[in-house]
Formats: sequence, structure tokens, C-alpha cells
Amino acid sequence: MNHQLSDLSPEQLRAFVAGQLERSRARTVQLTDSVDTDDLIRQHSRLMSPLVWDYAHIGNQEELWLVRDVGGREPVRQDIDELYDAFMHARADRPALPLLNPTETKSYVVEVRDKVMDVLDHVKFDGGRELVNDGFAFGMIVQHEQQHDETMLATHQLRTGSPVLDAPAPPPGRRLPAAEVFVPGGVFEMGTSIEPWALDNERPAHPVHVAPYVIDTVPVSNGDYLEFVLGGGYESEQWWSEAGWAHVQKASLVAPRFWEVADGNWTRTRFGHREPLPLDEPVLHVCFYEAEAYAKWAGKRLPTEEEWEFAARFDPASGRTRRFPWGDETPGPQHANLGQRHLRPAPVGAYPGGASPLGVEQLVGDCWEWTSSDLTPYPGFRAFPYDEYSLVFFGPDYKILRGGSFGTDEVVARTTFRNWDYPIRRQIFAGFRCARDPKPSELH
Ligand SMILES: [Fe+2]
Repeated sequence: MNHQLSDLSPEQLRAFVAGQLERSRARTVQLTDSVDTDDLIRQHSRLMSPLVWDYAHIGNQEELWLVRDVGGREPVRQDIDELYDAFMHARADRPALPLLNPTETKSYVVEVRDKVMDVLDHVKFDGGRELVNDGFAFGMIVQHEQQHDETMLATHQLRTGSPVLDAPAPPPGRRLPAAEVFVPGGVFEMGTSIEPWALDNERPAHPVHVAPYVIDTVPVSNGDYLEFVLGGGYESEQWWSEAGWAHVQKASLVAPRFWEVADGNWTRTRFGHREPLPLDEPVLHVCFYEAEAYAKWAGKRLPTEEEWEFAARFDPASGRTRRFPWGDETPGPQHANLGQRHLRPAPVGAYPGGASPLGVEQLVGDCWEWTSSDLTPYPGFRAFPYDEYSLVFFGPDYKILRGGSFGTDEVVARTTFRNWDYPIRRQIFAGFRCARDPKPSELH
């Protein structure tokens, strides 16, 4: 996946799109075939939809955009549109809807996909429709499916019962050359106008000035975070914002989600496995308020999303903004922990091949990183192809997360990709790294 997509011939682009559709579907099938019918229908948490809802919703969005809009074909199941409209029904209410059962769901998504492959065979990528340019509509639907796959992976993490998912361990960590990196700041090009499958909120590219700052080389580890827990971090109001303190009291938070302690031994549950807390792995399942409180306790703060993207993309040698920290190459296993290749973040220091020119590591993959920024439109933002993708979410209610997790696919994990969620959410695969203002002695 690269911005050279526009250099492909229509036949090459067709083959590329077909491969991406196949890859996302294989993942959806793995995440749904691995559990029984009862697990597919059940709501594992009020925060999540039943897996069978995500499954049919994936097919329904594909039908709406690719079969009906791009293909101009007859609807497959117009009668179910309303059931699978994410804006019509809150997640908590979805189990009570007259949803398709798992067998009906499977045949529905297969029927839609068959029609989509036929649409793909006949579509004219240069037919003058912006929606279809460079295969955008197909790219949007592939990313939609992959994002729901990550959501379904989060449902798997919330599910109780014996483990059903498996994956090899990530590469080992290593000792870092330095705990922090000084970033000189300057003007860089934020966002993108050239990534063909970038979504509306990542556009357009625009110059941004960033003042000098210092950022952690890697995300905060479980071991670092445990010190905050053991040091009474959750009992000291001084580290928390007003909203954070109110939330920590109300929700009775004492540690990251899925952590437990017995006789001084800390464990965490990961996809049904209870295991000793791995101290060198990035902390996961903390909300924005917990990230913010830890940073204050550590004498630091969270980075803004501008600072995050500057660290990930700026190349001081050329003054150029890169696609990825390591360069313009699509992420490979040597760069980042993505795509559910491993079912956990990798230990800190595991990806020297993914370092940015400034020496910041593990920006892409492992865990989403909370930033201090709200979701706001870039200058020149234009809603495309519909207001409900981003526009309706702009404002102070959501905090931006960057970088993608081990559960994020490479087709989504652009360094311009902006994820957002409520500051209280912990079921997502989110951690964070800290930043701080430089000391006067560091400024020359
Ligand atoms: Fe969706």
C-alpha cells in the first residue's frame, strides 16, 4: 500500500484491491470461526457489539458502498440496513435487535462479496468519480473491515472462557541507547494530500510549527507503570486532572484493566491466558486519564498529536516528511508489530529497524498512543465521502490516539492515521509515551 497506487495500471490496481479484500476477509473469518455460535451472539461487554453484529455490519457497509453506490447494483438486503447502522443503535442495545443469526450472516457477507468481486472486475478507476479514484471506495471498505477486526479482537480480549486465539511471541526487547530523545522542532508537513487511501480527517497536508521538546524513546512499560501503581498513584489526587480524579473515584480504578494482584504477585489476562505481568512490555488498557496522571507523576506530560507525528515523520537530514519513521517503505515484520501477527505488544527495544531518524522507536504498532489533543479538523478539511466518518465527531469529547497497535493492520497504520476515543475507554489496545518541555540546558 503506497502513494504510488496511482502509478499502477487498472489491472494491477484491481489485483491489489482484490488481495486487500481477501486479506481482510481472512482475518474476519478467523476472528468469527474461532468461537462457537453462543460466543458469536453473546454480548461480552456492554462496550462491545456481539461479534455477529460486527460481522454483518462489515458486509452491510460493503454492500452500501461497493455494491449499491460504486456498482449501481440492486440491493442485496435493504431490509437490514437499519439494524446495522452504527448511528441508529448504541452498542449496548444491539443484542436485543432482530439480527441475522450466524448462518444467515455468513451467507449474507459471502453474497455481498461475490457481487463486489464482479463490480471490481468492471469498475473504471478513471471514470471521473472521486469516490472511485485510485480505488478509494475499496480502500475505505478494506480499512473499515480491518478496523472492525481490531474491534472484534478487543471483544476477544473481553471474552471469558478458554483461549481460542494463538500467535507466536514477538521479537525480544533490547537495552535502549537512551530513555528520551531531544527533538529540535521546526516546521514540518503534517497530514497528507497524496496517500490515495487516507481518510478525510488526515487531509490535507499542511505546514505545522513544532517547538523543541523531549519525547520518550519507547512507550511506557508495564514495569514503569507498576511503580506509579505501587507508589500510590491511584490514591493521590495531585496527579490527576479534575475530570480524571472524578472518573478514577467513580469507576474505582486501581490499576490498568486486566491486571490483578495476589500476595504481591502481579498478573494480567491476555486473550484468556493469565500470566505474570511482563515488565518490559508497553502498558496496555489504560484510559487517557491514567496516561495523563502517570505523565504528571513522572514529571512529564503527554505529547500533542503534532509532536507525535513530527517525531514519527520528520527527517532532519533532508528536512522532508517521511511516510513512516523508517522511510517510505510499507511496514514489514522488521519495522513494527502490526496485523495481529503477535497477540501482544513487543517488549521495548524490539524494533530498532522501526526507529525514526531522530531515534524514536515503536511509534507504529504495539499499542495505540494517547495524545493530549482533541479530535479537530485540519485547516482545509472537507468531509468525504460522508459527514458521519469524521465531521460529527469533531470537538472536545474525544482524544486522539496515534500509531496503531499489534491488532492494527498495515493498510490502516499510516503515520497520518488519526484514531479517537472517549478519555475513559480502556478496552482498546492503548498505551502511551510521555513528552516534556526541554530544560534550558538542553536547548543549545
Ligand atoms: Fe463500522
